[in-house]
Amino acid sequence: MTDNPYLAHRKDLKKASSSSQPLLGFIPRKVKGEQVRKALPHTAQYRKILEARKKLPVFAQMDEFLAMFSHNQIIVMVGETGSGKTTQIPQFVAFSDLPHTKGKLVACTQPWRDIAISMAKRVAEEMDVDLGCEVGYSVRFEDMTEPGKTFLQYMADDTLLREAMNDPNLTRYSTIILDEAHERTLATDILMALLKDLAKRRADLKIIIMSATLDALKFQKYFGLSKKSTAPLLKVPGRTYPIEVFYTQEPEPDYFEAVIKTVLMIHRAEDPGDILVFLTGEEEIEDACKKIKLEADDMVNQNPDSVGPLVCIPLYPSLPPQQQQRIFDPAPSTVSPSGPPGRKVVVSTNIAETSLTIDGIVYVVDPGFSKQQVYNPRIGVMFILVTPISKASAQQRAGRAGRTRPGKCFRLYTEKDFIRELEEQTYPEILRCNLSITVLELLKLGIKDLIRFDFVDAPSAETLMRALALLNDLAAIDDEGNITALGRTMAEFPLDPQLSKMLIASPELKCSNEILTITAMLSVSNIWVRPANAQREADEAKALLLVPGSDHLTLINVFNQYLQHKYDKNWAWQNYVSGRALAQAENVRDQLQRTMERLGIDVVSLSGRKELYQNVRKALVIGFFMQVAHKDGKTGYCTVKDGQSVALHPSCCLISQPEWVLFNEFILTTRPYIRTNTDIRGEWLLELASHYYDLSSFPDSGTKRALQRIAKRNGKPGGISRGGAPASRKQRKR
Ligand code: CDP
Ligand code: MG
Repeated sequence: MTDNPYLAHRKDLKKASSSSQPLLGFIPRKVKGEQVRKALPHTAQYRKILEARKKLPVFAQMDEFLAMFSHNQIIVMVGETGSGKTTQIPQFVAFSDLPHTKGKLVACTQPWRDIAISMAKRVAEEMDVDLGCEVGYSVRFEDMTEPGKTFLQYMADDTLLREAMNDPNLTRYSTIILDEAHERTLATDILMALLKDLAKRRADLKIIIMSATLDALKFQKYFGLSKKSTAPLLKVPGRTYPIEVFYTQEPEPDYFEAVIKTVLMIHRAEDPGDILVFLTGEEEIEDACKKIKLEADDMVNQNPDSVGPLVCIPLYPSLPPQQQQRIFDPAPSTVSPSGPPGRKVVVSTNIAETSLTIDGIVYVVDPGFSKQQVYNPRIGVMFILVTPISKASAQQRAGRAGRTRPGKCFRLYTEKDFIRELEEQTYPEILRCNLSITVLELLKLGIKDLIRFDFVDAPSAETLMRALALLNDLAAIDDEGNITALGRTMAEFPLDPQLSKMLIASPELKCSNEILTITAMLSVSNIWVRPANAQREADEAKALLLVPGSDHLTLINVFNQYLQHKYDKNWAWQNYVSGRALAQAENVRDQLQRTMERLGIDVVSLSGRKELYQNVRKALVIGFFMQVAHKDGKTGYCTVKDGQSVALHPSCCLISQPEWVLFNEFILTTRPYIRTNTDIRGEWLLELASHYYDLSSFPDSGTKRALQRIAKRNGKPGGISRGGAPASRKQRKR
């Protein structure tokens, strides 16, 4: 028997609850902690989880939280990672708000889509309900909720932002919780601005800003009712044990090697306790796991009496959820009862910094780096760089060591570097990314004066101008900065503007089927698998899938082959491609196709392959004409307009070094590379993007001269429609 009001619908409980009062006389937003504690599930199965939940610091402050929530429209909340903010607060809110009685939802946003999913799973379990029913999640390309039934929805922050575009009042929600606000992702930052404004229009909407770091004053001030007042703060006291921090004496020449060495040193010499290592990305993490495992196994074999077994678990956002769950597994047990204890090593990106809490971590190894997006508005190029972390990040990382008992943090840099070289805080994403899609979304919302828009941290005017210029080049906005009909349609797609433009233009070139596939394939993580111990085999397998002259056409080929062999379990594995990434691409493609159908955009293909492939290349030019490089010298390339020297990435399939190359990505590793490339023709640039390739305004360069030669040879270029695809032949003749 239960008196959990949320379980009243369940078949097995229906009888019991209908005889009692299902809602216990709860009055929305006047609910007291005492009532909630009474209403929690009482089944034996959940008592155990409940006991653990009751020990969370947030739980001890339930009364204080509910009182503050009842009396204020906006509250800011800070608490150490692991204090129970993400899993508990949305439940408290649901109990207080009773959203299901009003047909509304409580939303809790997360910066990472996979964390939104795993939190929804955990909370459904805690509440004894089915995932996707009362508690669900909604992330880009995946909606696991049931309209009318779901009342608590975890979601990716960008998903809520997109929803705000179509419903600026966010009418579905009674409370919106922006979680991990300290991460300062672009979407969370924009949502803060939109919610601040929305709060004035919707007095019934409640807003909670949750953060793991102590500099919440910024949010309090931002959400203050007047210039002088601040939003109320609920502080959950931390409960960490002391952490000893060690630095290296000298800077480490190779942080990766230093990580391996340190982990093995801990395993050999330190007391029992699990290790958390921070590295920068998937490949590095998988590599580290293999190396650590190999060396640790050697150590165990040599000294079975003094060294215990070790398991190494990778953790990064693109890992399948079941594998992500492995981080919660207990450490391996000893081989013999009296043998040395086993140890668990989790090797993670910075998602373990604040979003996930792994209990039992006693040692943290921090090389001091993370991967960050950096955008250079001057040249309009975004790249992902391995950069030093901030002091705030370093502190968070160290904090992970003291959850269950006193811990140790090994920083693989000198104390002097920590003090002098690290920035205080990580720069918010809004200050270091390309804003074109966000600007388009804001314009669609009717926010035109972006320079005076109330950002938490305003991006530079240069970045905003660059975004506007790109949208203007794509004809998504007119010269006065007004959003065009094309721009509105583009904003319907959760895609970069170049991709949505190309997709919308593709039916005129009779290749929207193919462009749809390319777009989906570009929207998922890397599809190629190239294990360190089978690189040659992987390259040979890839060579068989290549379409000469185009990485984009190669993506189409891989996708089509995948569909043909969909029921052959071994196909992906034998061909060194990621079956999971391809399945994801298939899902993304379905969703995009539905959006196209809703908007009346045809999904078509030409029948002749040669002409079809030619048109696919042209459609690529319509979206990505600003991302083109011209051959410069024997092997080098030079990007048009900004004249950056670049090289084709080693993974690129263009062997013949064509004169003009369209690229999808500019990346900076050992040198500047362009990746995912297609051989195109110079005349297409003049023909399909004449406004951009207006040679009178073009900087003098080898590229300009080459284009001038083409223009001369072809006579004056013409027949260009700025709105989308080239004008039809008939129009061109006129
Ligand atoms: O959000 P915050 O960092 O304050 O804490 P939380 O994510 O709500 O986590 C509270 C507790 O739940 C921690 O001890 C986590 O380890 C635990 N948890 C879990 O065991 N399994 C999950 N899938 C999520 C959280
Ligand atoms: Mg959290």
